[in-house]
Amino acid sequence: MPAEADLIRFIEKFTFEENNVSSPAKRTLIDYLASEGIKTFRYTNEFWTSRQRQAASIHEISYRACFKPQLPRFFINLLSRPKDTVYDPFAGRGTTTIEAALLGRKTIANDINPLSRILSEPRLAVPSMEQVSNRLAEIPFQKASKNDLDLSMFYHSQTESELRSLRGYLTEKQEESLDDNIDRWIRMVATNRLTGHSKGFFSVYTMPPNQAVSAARQKKLNLRRGQTPEYRDVKTIILKKSCQLMRNLTDQQLRNLKIAAKSAVFLQNDAAETENIPTASVNLTVTSPPFLNIVQYSQDNWLRCWFNNIALDGLEKQMTMATSLNQWSSTMGSVFNELYRITRPGGWVAFEVGEVRSGKIKLEEHVIPSGVRSGFKCAGVVVNQQTFTKTSNIWGIQNNHSGTNSNRIVLFSKNISG
Ligand SMILES: C[S@@+](CC[C@H](N)C(=O)[O-])C[C@H]1O[C@@H](n2cnc3c(N)ncnc32)[C@H](O)[C@@H]1O
Repeated sequence: MPAEADLIRFIEKFTFEENNVSSPAKRTLIDYLASEGIKTFRYTNEFWTSRQRQAASIHEISYRACFKPQLPRFFINLLSRPKDTVYDPFAGRGTTTIEAALLGRKTIANDINPLSRILSEPRLAVPSMEQVSNRLAEIPFQKASKNDLDLSMFYHSQTESELRSLRGYLTEKQEESLDDNIDRWIRMVATNRLTGHSKGFFSVYTMPPNQAVSAARQKKLNLRRGQTPEYRDVKTIILKKSCQLMRNLTDQQLRNLKIAAKSAVFLQNDAAETENIPTASVNLTVTSPPFLNIVQYSQDNWLRCWFNNIALDGLEKQMTMATSLNQWSSTMGSVFNELYRITRPGGWVAFEVGEVRSGKIKLEEHVIPSGVRSGFKCAGVVVNQQTFTKTSNIWGIQNNHSGTNSNRIVLFSKNISG
């Protein structure tokens, strides 16, 4: 792991714009840091070349406000070694978790949303295509579970019946604790294919898969587009997506995923209360917190929750839905205290923050004091250069709308002396 001086040199090699202390907002931050005796740099660049941009296909599961795998990859390569433990307290679809596993690290993932584990854990214990195909052949697709909800605005009746059968089968296996990694893989893929805007999804044309619209809005969309749901073959779609997810995995990556799966820990706690994670056990955290009530994770995921028997009530309440900056900062303060406890002396935290409210709020100005108050040293703010074209925006398209239009990572280290 590089010493802090090495890290600074490494980043400086790539730097073409150091922070200039011209704007009042920046001056406030710098003044604060100076008063605390902290020297903080801002490093701006495109931190990897286009050659390095290709990500493993296994990441291709959509989730609101996810980051692209190149972000955790950059910090995992820079700040950890093989077999080190990499953690994400706000794991989402598991981008950090899976990238860490691919790179031969141990992983711990935490997210208050139960969908996070459903979407990430199966991608560590990847079954073979043959196993998926054989299992799909065994599932009784004619045994639909009862009609608890009208889904006819999304699905053709035959597709809906296949989907209900699959849901019934998976529920039964899970309730009897008989589900294995193949069932969990099928659950993960099906959850991802519930709604979308192409024939690769079970539904008629609708919103992208991570933003399910309400039944009423879908009815309006169907009317406006003059569409009715066509039949989609559930098994064929699951097989096709499985194949896509596995398409560029190397043998080494598959081995790394399998090894990581054996020790991987998945938690569903509040990020500030992770007592299951031992003190001083994590080498590196790479994470992106929920931003100020920009994304309604549970509303966006109501169909995914239905498929997985997750009650929506309460989920929203548990999630961090801070409406004011003070509330957000205080929540993050508790998260930093917990991160400080679990980080090994000499370990690192890479904390992604965005601009909210059209750049008026720069969250790093609130995050840096929180981290420092918890005991961390702030090593700098890494800014990825943003070019707003589809191919060169490497941080995730979702991050460029709804008020979050740039991505910065605040880097913290914990002193060797602890
Ligand atoms: C910006 S997303 C993280 C996305 C992730 N980086 C990825 O690539 O998928 C923030 C996540 O924080 C989770 N979350 C919200 N409040 C939380 C809390 N109090 N504790 C733990 N997780 C929380 C949400 O469920 C969401 O998955």
